[in-house]
Amino acid sequence: MQTYSIALIPGDGIGVDVIDAAWEILNSVAETSGFALKGTEFPWSCAFYKETGRMMPEDGIETLRGFDAILLGAVGWPKEVPDAVSLHGLLLPIRKAFVQYANIRPHRLLPGVQGPLKAEAFDILCIRENTEGEYSGAGGRVHQGMDNEVAVETSIFTRAGVERIIRFGFEQAKARRGKLASVTKSNAQKYSMVFWDEITQKLAREYPEVEVTSYHVDALAARMVMAPESLDVIVASNLFGDILTDLGAAIQGGLGFAASANINPDRAAPSMFEPVHGSAPDIAGKGIANPMATIWSGAMMLEHLGETQAARRIMEALAITTGKGIGTTPGKDTTATITSAVKNALTTL
Ligand code: NAD
Ligand code: IPM
Ligand code: MN
Repeated sequence: MQTYSIALIPGDGIGVDVIDAAWEILNSVAETSGFALKGTEFPWSCAFYKETGRMMPEDGIETLRGFDAILLGAVGWPKEVPDAVSLHGLLLPIRKAFVQYANIRPHRLLPGVQGPLKAEAFDILCIRENTEGEYSGAGGRVHQGMDNEVAVETSIFTRAGVERIIRFGFEQAKARRGKLASVTKSNAQKYSMVFWDEITQKLAREYPEVEVTSYHVDALAARMVMAPESLDVIVASNLFGDILTDLGAAIQGGLGFAASANINPDRAAPSMFEPVHGSAPDIAGKGIANPMATIWSGAMMLEHLGETQAARRIMEALAITTGKGIGTTPGKDTTATITSAVKNALTTL
């Protein structure tokens, strides 16, 4: 039987609850789909940092390299470990080391989910650059604590990095409804975003079948609220994509529904699957985290592994569950209730 080795990193806060839930659903679908999942759990988290002084062991990246995929909950416990330490010690190094340059985030309403907008029929795929740009981590501070202190954080946009992500966006648009929104801010950022626009225009010539429009990020944020049905694929830099995908999460009913895949398209290293949301300290330990974003991310993992039918079954089970109104109102159903409803729905398929 085909067995996939999966590295599980629950992380902090509700990350632990949602990974438990998603793992249960993934194994349930595997059992009836003729493949197996072998999970290895890593306790890397802020608690691990407090014990060891590191978010993951020195050879953490090499340990993960041998897995078929990584499923991650959430990283961050700002009350005890500064976010800039925890995220730069675990999540961000994984994305960079494994060249997971395409962060894919789907935004659409599951049946029965009431979003905040009048528009219901939208289906947006946001492709976020995931390894460079504004989150390159290049910079420094001098004269710390003094009146003349300076902090510099430099965005890094490379031709190779920008071309590959915009090309990925064109490919996705070609496979979907043929529309690409390229996110810019070239009216204010006259180097990096002019460069981004030039590469968009250059690649457009290779994809005559794709209708590409460049939108300034501020205008696109408004469009996502006012006319989300006019959008198909969005391609954005790291920071812009980060912000727009929390907006995407909001219009699809909340962060509890927003899934995400950090993909290495060349398959030279494992890809990582995680919800868009964080560790949600405000609800951690209450048992009310919505696991659907993580279960959906698990479906994206199966799709990536080639188990398309099993991935589809998970999405159908999610739709049956939300269609019954389970998990659609924040705080009403527990993580356990939602998980068992999805599991039951799977048995009816
Ligand atoms: P957050 O996403 O954790 O929470 C924002 C709000 O959404 C909170 O009110 C929370 O209760 C709610 N929420 C999030 N997920 C939910 C779910 N599944 N079900 C129900 N409600 C949910 O964002 P934050 O508060 O800005 O960040 C908290 C911590 O998580 C920080 O340390 C932050 O850096 C980290 N973070 C990590 C990731 C990641 O690991 N990928 C992503 C975002 C934030
Ligand atoms: C996300 C998160 C992370 C990011 C943070 C926690 C570093 O917000 O996955 O959207 O910005 O990439
Ligand atoms: Mn984010």
